[in-house]
Amino acid sequence: MPPKMIAIDGPAASGKTTLGRRLADYLGYLFVDTGVMYRAVTWAALQRGIDIHDEARLTALAEEVQIDILPPSQNDGRFYDVRMDHQDITWEIRNPQVEAAVSIVSAYPGVRRALTAQQRRIGLRGRVVMVGRDIGTVVLPEADLKIYLDASPEERARRRFAELQARGEAADYGAILQNVRERDQIDSTRQVAPLQAAPDAIHIDSDGLTAEEVFERVRELCR
Ligand code: CDP
Repeated sequence: MPPKMIAIDGPAASGKTTLGRRLADYLGYLFVDTGVMYRAVTWAALQRGIDIHDEARLTALAEEVQIDILPPSQNDGRFYDVRMDHQDITWEIRNPQVEAAVSIVSAYPGVRRALTAQQRRIGLRGRVVMVGRDIGTVVLPEADLKIYLDASPEERARRRFAELQARGEAADYGAILQNVRERDQIDSTRQVAPLQAAPDAIHIDSDGLTAEEVFERVRELCR
């Protein structure tokens, strides 16, 4: 019997989404990328001109916004639609402004409380692969398989750079590397639910491994 609840955590751009989606497809499970929710709240805050240092307003925002993740409506490389108030924000949540602010927004306890509650409700139904920073530690500590996926900052920045180029977007390797480092720093030192491996997580260092090799390892673990 494969595990019913799979948690994948790790730092920015470590390949969690690629692995998670692949694994969910293979097992016929629901794939939940929790980073999308933090990005969507951050995007909404920037859009509405909310100061990203205003914890109270951001908490209220996280409690009120409706984030919908739906099957893809367009064939432009997306795996799903992200919508908020009927607006398609699938690519907007990946822009550099969101990337620069998301770790600040997601460090606020009130923001985390709101989003974690939604994630936990989805995850507890089982047959799910959930990806983030605190899934094995906080969101679904009862997950029966926990992976902590890591890679060096340089390797992660290279992958993110290649992703942007593949989408035909302007990409600056140095700026990406700096953002990856900054987000890691904020994500792993925050007070609530910092990025850290659960004690029972299996570590995979993906430097020098292809996405296929990482998948094969995890597939073995699911047996
Ligand atoms: O894809 P990438 O690894 O670059 O980022 P992501 O998974 O989309 O997450 C974006 C940001 O959301 C992270 O840098 C964290 O600040 C925050 N996040 C979080 O705090 N907790 C989660 N479970 C998922 C994301």
